[in-house]
Amino acid sequence: MLVLMLVAMLVAATTLQPCLLASARQLCRTHMVRTGKVFHVRQQIQGDQLYFSSMTSHLIKHPCKKNIALYLGRRLFFTRDNFRSSLLPLSIPTSMKAGLPEVTSAHIAGSVLLLVVSRKVYIYNYEANYWNTSIGIEHPVSHVSGDNCCYSGHPFCVDISNSVFAYLHGDQISQTNIYFSNNGGFRYQKFAYEKQAELVGSLGGIFYFHSLSQVGLLLIDQGKARFSYSEHPLNFSFGLPFDYNGTLNILITPGQKGILIFWFERSLLLSRNSGQLVYPLQVKEGPHTLLSSISEANVTIYSVAANEYELAVLTQENNLYYGSLGILSSSLIKFTGQNIWSQEAALMFTDVGRVEILVPLSDPVFPAFDFEKCPINIQEILMDPQLQVDVCKVELLQGEFDNKMYTIDMNSELELTALMIPRPGMSLVPLAMVSNPHSLGLQAVIYEDGYTYDGNTRHRLNISLRQQHHWGRADPNFTSSIKRPTGSTITLDIANKEISCVDLKPLTALISVGCDQEKKIVIQNEISACYNGILDPVGLQDNYSYVIEREAYDPNFQGQKASEDLVVHYHYEKLGCPHLVYYNTPWKPVVELWREGKFQEVIQAEFVLLEVNGLFTYTYSLTANTALCRSQPQNWTTIMSDAGDKGLFSWNRENYVSCHDPDNEAPLMWPDVPYQILGGPTANKVIFEQRNGIYIFYISIVDPYYSYCHLETTFSVYVYGAFPLSVIPTAVIIIPLVVMLLSVWLVYAIPKLLHTEKGLRFKSFWAHLCRRCRKACFRGGN
Ligand SMILES: *[C@@H]1O[C@H](CO)[C@@H](O)[C@H](O)[C@H]1NC(C)=O
Ligand SMILES: *[C@@H]1O[C@H](CO)[C@@H](O)[C@H](O)[C@H]1NC(C)=O
Ligand SMILES: *[C@@H]1O[C@H](CO)[C@@H](O)[C@H](O)[C@H]1NC(C)=O
Ligand SMILES: *[C@@H]1O[C@H](CO)[C@@H](O)[C@H](O)[C@H]1NC(C)=O
Ligand SMILES: *[C@@H]1O[C@H](CO)[C@@H](O)[C@H](O)[C@H]1NC(C)=O
Ligand SMILES: *[C@@H]1O[C@H](CO)[C@@H](O)[C@H](O)[C@H]1NC(C)=O
Ligand SMILES: *[C@@H]1O[C@H](CO)[C@@H](O)[C@H](O)[C@H]1NC(C)=O
Ligand SMILES: *[C@@H]1O[C@H](CO)[C@@H](O)[C@H](O)[C@H]1NC(C)=O
Repeated sequence: MLVLMLVAMLVAATTLQPCLLASARQLCRTHMVRTGKVFHVRQQIQGDQLYFSSMTSHLIKHPCKKNIALYLGRRLFFTRDNFRSSLLPLSIPTSMKAGLPEVTSAHIAGSVLLLVVSRKVYIYNYEANYWNTSIGIEHPVSHVSGDNCCYSGHPFCVDISNSVFAYLHGDQISQTNIYFSNNGGFRYQKFAYEKQAELVGSLGGIFYFHSLSQVGLLLIDQGKARFSYSEHPLNFSFGLPFDYNGTLNILITPGQKGILIFWFERSLLLSRNSGQLVYPLQVKEGPHTLLSSISEANVTIYSVAANEYELAVLTQENNLYYGSLGILSSSLIKFTGQNIWSQEAALMFTDVGRVEILVPLSDPVFPAFDFEKCPINIQEILMDPQLQVDVCKVELLQGEFDNKMYTIDMNSELELTALMIPRPGMSLVPLAMVSNPHSLGLQAVIYEDGYTYDGNTRHRLNISLRQQHHWGRADPNFTSSIKRPTGSTITLDIANKEISCVDLKPLTALISVGCDQEKKIVIQNEISACYNGILDPVGLQDNYSYVIEREAYDPNFQGQKASEDLVVHYHYEKLGCPHLVYYNTPWKPVVELWREGKFQEVIQAEFVLLEVNGLFTYTYSLTANTALCRSQPQNWTTIMSDAGDKGLFSWNRENYVSCHDPDNEAPLMWPDVPYQILGGPTANKVIFEQRNGIYIFYISIVDPYYSYCHLETTFSVYVYGAFPLSVIPTAVIIIPLVVMLLSVWLVYAIPKLLHTEKGLRFKSFWAHLCRRCRKACFRGGN
């Protein structure tokens, strides 16, 4: 019995009675999904059944997990198998005390569903199957907005999926409360939009446009709408105004390309640049009629669906409009069908060129709903000669970089390659577009070369992405602040391709203009204290500790003597053998850049050092004056007092201001203070005092123009030569006699001494002695 039931459940009775739509141009055949209803196992709806506030039906698909979708209509249905099984309507547990179960907005953020029910945000974690309320929202909200990044687990991508806004649509902008969450919608904080108080109009939405690295706020005023942006350089201007009739639904298409679709019953608008320019889509009604917008077609839009590449619209007049979201093409083509529209119908893309009309059907016997599906193959329909659609000129467009994520750090560029094959005799215009040219003046240049293969001409495309900044042409009024990491996408498409090129998807990559996480700094350690016999690596590895005398360090880094000696445990695993530095020679570490475990270059950029235990028995060779500072240089004292409790080691590329910077207005009041910045334009060096011992330095690259990364590390040096070790040479003569006695004594003494700095010194003395001894004996042998 149990087995039978399982079999019955597994062999889900998906397809029942395919019925043909009686139409001259048959758009699709419907079939019904009905599963798990063989036995009278009664499922019960628990909690309050949710419904959508809008008169039309919406369908939200998870852009990364293709089988996850939410249907919003008179009931809500949440599926994890793309509506391949019957479903109970979604309900919210009564324990959530949601009140009126009316949903005004929904967003799928990673593995949770965010729903605005009765002006509050609720979280449904569909993987763990629990509900919760959000934290931090103190005023009523009606909408949530967010995006999903499917490219990788890179922090830039994760941040995209975690950023969520909650707001009250239609509220006066100047005084409305906007909330932002950076943890996927659980916890919110009030979002401070810089110019909010000055903005006039009501709020049409707020969105994080990651492809432009801007927050865009939609202002509605007197039938017109326009975007206001948060960051330089767009914060100076607004997007161009556009007609705002009815209440526009705003659809951000997946893939971070900056494509937005605005629609309500009578209008359909598109933007390809995150709202800077919004325009109506042209409509091709027949081979010879072109309407300038869908409002001229006298139709009532009911449901709109989009994926990364294309757009489909279902109207109450049983029409389906289809359009490509390529770089340039922006018209819709009309297909007429019959009985494809119904009150509950919603549209979705199941794949590229595959649209499905979905209708939930109630069942008088079971509480679970079945689904009627009508799949449409766009490519097939476009082949209909009546439509007189030109055949696609492109045979192939392919590139390794498609759907990948790349990082461009400063001083680096990105080369992408693609292959393009036209139909014989045709010529194509490839086009590469970056979504955020403000990102350090990011530019894409295509280099093309053709060759003949099998009688066909193939075109190799090299796309080179660079920052104008490094070409010395960046206009500060056009470019984002160089210090701010940003993001962009690059899309490669064929400019003059036909609507029939359904399967020829544009190629897109996501670009993080920011820290390249593979970058590390390494301090060159060619002269290690171990290889020179000064320190013993075995002793260092054996839980070695040393004492810093109280006169030499300050635990508060203020240069004041401490009240007691400090015992420091040496972390050999982390620090290795110290670098050997002779106390009397001005010194500067050689800092190397490594990437993915490979040496790249010696870093010439500015950096700073700090002894981590507070040792202050060193200074610098230059002063503010001799370093030719125009303004008072920063130093560790000023940085630490500015940072407050943000941590001691907080001198980095973000707070560093060069004293050579013409914009730096701090007057040079103390020209004789030590100049604490090494590298860069000066020849500054570290000068050690007469003191032997281990120094552990924290190093931070502070030059803001070297890399977006916080390049930092710790390393150790052993300063030697300050004590009168010169007693040793005299020993050479008496060696033969003393050696025997000494060695006997050392066997007892060394194990005790080894754990101190003196012990290591002693051991090195012994090693030194032995070498000399061997040398002497050898000579004697001659
Ligand atoms: C719901 O949120 C509250 C408040 O943050 C938390 O204490 C509780 O653990 C959450 N419930 C679940 C099931 O995660
Ligand atoms: C735009 O941002 C820049 C840099 O952050 C700032 O200096 C400027 O005042 C801002 N402009 C407006 C109009 O907010
Ligand atoms: C909006 O309405 C105005 C007047 O009512 C009309 O002129 C305009 O074409 C409409 N715009 C759209 C995009 O529907
Ligand atoms: C739309 O309706 C108007 C007025 O009702 C009419 O003039 C126009 O021809 C119609 N357009 C189409 C494409 O049917
Ligand atoms: C494209 O790059 C490849 C490999 O770097 C090179 O061999 C080829 O000459 C380049 N083609 C063009 C047109 O720049
Ligand atoms: C930037 O804009 C300001 C004010 O709009 C203008 O005075 C300045 O000349 C512009 N700078 C450049 C490099 O175009
Ligand atoms: C290292 O030395 C410290 C203090 O001298 C001691 O507490 C610790 O147990 C030692 N660890 C090992 C692995 O010997
Ligand atoms: C740090 O700089 C301040 C002035 O900015 C100066 O007064 C102070 O003496 C400097 N400290 C050190 C240790 O050089």
